[in-house]
Amino acid sequence: MLKPNFDQAEFLKDYWQKEPILIKKFFSNLEGYTNPEELLEIACINAVDSRIITTRPEYCVAERYSLTQGPFDADSLPALAEKNWSLLIQSAELWIPDLQEMIRAFGFLPRWRIEDIMVSFATQGGGVGPHFDQYDVFLVQGLGQRTWCIGERIDLTAPHQSPAGTVSTLNLIDEFEVNQKFTVESGDVLYVPPGYPHWGISQSPSLCYSVGFRAPSNAEMIESFSNRVMELLTESQRLTDHTTPAMRDSAEITTKDWQHAWEVVAGLLANKGAFLRAFGSLVTEAKSPEFIEPLADEVHIEELLAFRGPTVELVRNPASRFAYTVQTDSNPVLLFVDGESYELDRICLPGVRALCADALQNLFDISELWQKDESRALICRLVQSGALWLTEKED
Ligand code: SIN
Ligand code: CO
Repeated sequence: MLKPNFDQAEFLKDYWQKEPILIKKFFSNLEGYTNPEELLEIACINAVDSRIITTRPEYCVAERYSLTQGPFDADSLPALAEKNWSLLIQSAELWIPDLQEMIRAFGFLPRWRIEDIMVSFATQGGGVGPHFDQYDVFLVQGLGQRTWCIGERIDLTAPHQSPAGTVSTLNLIDEFEVNQKFTVESGDVLYVPPGYPHWGISQSPSLCYSVGFRAPSNAEMIESFSNRVMELLTESQRLTDHTTPAMRDSAEITTKDWQHAWEVVAGLLANKGAFLRAFGSLVTEAKSPEFIEPLADEVHIEELLAFRGPTVELVRNPASRFAYTVQTDSNPVLLFVDGESYELDRICLPGVRALCADALQNLFDISELWQKDESRALICRLVQSGALWLTEKED
């Protein structure tokens, strides 16, 4: 259940990417998602990205935190009664499927921006230390209480150094001047935009769900776009010579020379269609591609339809990322799945929308997907790529 009077428009206008804000009682009934015992079990699974951070409160920041990377042996885990430690589980929504529901609560923001949910369990005094993130994060408090300190926004473009001697993966910064301080309880959500230093300390055994967002860096966008443009070029497309008889010095690159080269490159980079494909592919790259296994053999529609029935569902792989774009009425629909793009006739749009819809549903039930040959072929390709799979229906 979500806070009924949360003003999304006000949030987007005044806070999103600008200011931290505490939203009291944003969620109710958070108890059911998970519990410390289940998280400790998950931390022992080999494929899980888990970490334990132990705090020595009496030390300075540089020596206060130590990091142990999972997976863990059950008998190497600290006792729940022990103070000053925190367990972090990355991409927790893949292990606790009900967390997809929490992701849906942020449906007022583009889903392709969501990176994952990291769950942290911390005993009293536990936390990850003062740090800042490059991304927006919603810190959703589950069980227990945590006190968060927030500082003044720092300049993300300036070079930043962790205190000497700290473990670099902890991304710690020195203690900062505290501007805002909140003690959060179950259901409260603290939104922290990129670049705001923050620091949470658990007051009692507590759970926090960090709904993290992704934002491609300018360098990543240029890299994926230029790779896409390069795929369209051939070896024989080369710079043509513009030398004139008036050449002053054979050692000189003349303004005419480099400007001509620049015009050629700028012309190639003006390819908006290639940019759109590169961008869609970049932002739908899977965070955990190891959970998306392509099938060895081509999938045929008759084989797939043979599974349709009361016991089997066809659903999206929760590790897969789906998004689509539609330009104008006449343009084809572009579907992006796990970094691949698929061009489809505009008539397939209702099916594509259903395929990308927020709530995971049985795709066998979506009639639009099965009416057109083009979308049937698409479904087969997506099953083969591992982005869609067959599962047993839950009762
Ligand atoms: C935590 O869960 O303790 C840390 C989350 C964050 O600061 O992003
Ligand atoms: Co953070």
